[in-house]
Amino acid sequence: TTTAAVRIVEVGPRDGLQNEKQPVPAATKIELIERLAACGLPVVEATSFVSPKWVPQMADAAEVLAGLRRRAGVAYPVLVPNLQGLERARAAGAEVIAVFIAASDAFNRRNINATTDEALQRLTPVVAEAIRAGLKVRAYVSTVLGCPYQGAVAPAEVVRLVRALADLGCYEISLGDTIGVGTPGRARALFRACADAVGTARLALHFHDTYGQALANVYACLEEGARVVDASVAGLGGCPYAQGASGNLATEDLVYMLHGLGIDTGVDLDRLVETGRWISAVLGRAPASRLGRIERRV
Ligand code: HMG
Ligand code: MG
Repeated sequence: TTTAAVRIVEVGPRDGLQNEKQPVPAATKIELIERLAACGLPVVEATSFVSPKWVPQMADAAEVLAGLRRRAGVAYPVLVPNLQGLERARAAGAEVIAVFIAASDAFNRRNINATTDEALQRLTPVVAEAIRAGLKVRAYVSTVLGCPYQGAVAPAEVVRLVRALADLGCYEISLGDTIGVGTPGRARALFRACADAVGTARLALHFHDTYGQALANVYACLEEGARVVDASVAGLGGCPYAQGASGNLATEDLVYMLHGLGIDTGVDLDRLVETGRWISAVLGRAPASRLGRIERRV
């Protein structure tokens, strides 16, 4: 039993581009975000207000967010790691932010220079202050199906963090398989455990496709009632703190599966495929999506 509509959260401009070695001009990022919104995507994560010392590619976050021609009805969340990031995001006109934490101490240390408990303490005032200021707050829990440094991650730790983030007032918590090691049985069981804690409507799926499992994992969770899925146009990306991780599930391939299942997304697939080919060409590579590589669909 699948749902009749899925909301796709496009993360390519942030999760995809944060890992690009070559500088990508702010104007290109802005054009990508605007083109994605024009495809009918309801949510386009635009950039991140993290430390430019840690992620140089996102140093132009303010320029990108402030330079966007925003479309009515489209949300443009931005990643924020701390109060300094929140201040920068607000100054640039952010209306939705996303906070993030991993379910692994080892990963948090490398990604944000804090233990899990320190990270939770750090993001607590960020969420509170953002909500007080009238912003909406999304959250990510990373490494939910495995960590590149510590290996196995306890589902109970993921559930603990999901519940904590929901209690803080985050409207949606996205389950990140940061290195794409999950398989459908485990993805399904984890989704069910998190849904038991906060309900299916509060959860999103954020599966990287490193092991080619992302679409299968999404399908398994759809059967459990998942209705929000993160994806990256042309399969852009990886993770700067998770070596070898490839990009998120490609948005084009996700849309193709969902429409094939009779699930509405509001996305114009032809236009999306064209956008994926365009940004891939700009970056000098072939699209990592399957659909982007098919010359003519039957
Ligand atoms: P730190 O070095 O411990 O922090 O980094 P600090 O407070 O000591 O700051 C160090 C310097 O950075 C200072 O500058 C700060 O001002 C500056 P200095 O005094 O040396 O000149 N700084 C900032 N500048 C601008 N904006 C800020 C900011 N904060 C500090 N917001 C920190 C701690 C968290 C800041 C750092 O580790 C960081 O920015 N990490 C971000 C890493 C990152 O972006 N990772 C990728 C995103 S997570 C992801 O991709 C996973 C996800 O996709 C889900 C999934 O796949 O599972 C979401
Ligand atoms: Mg990610």
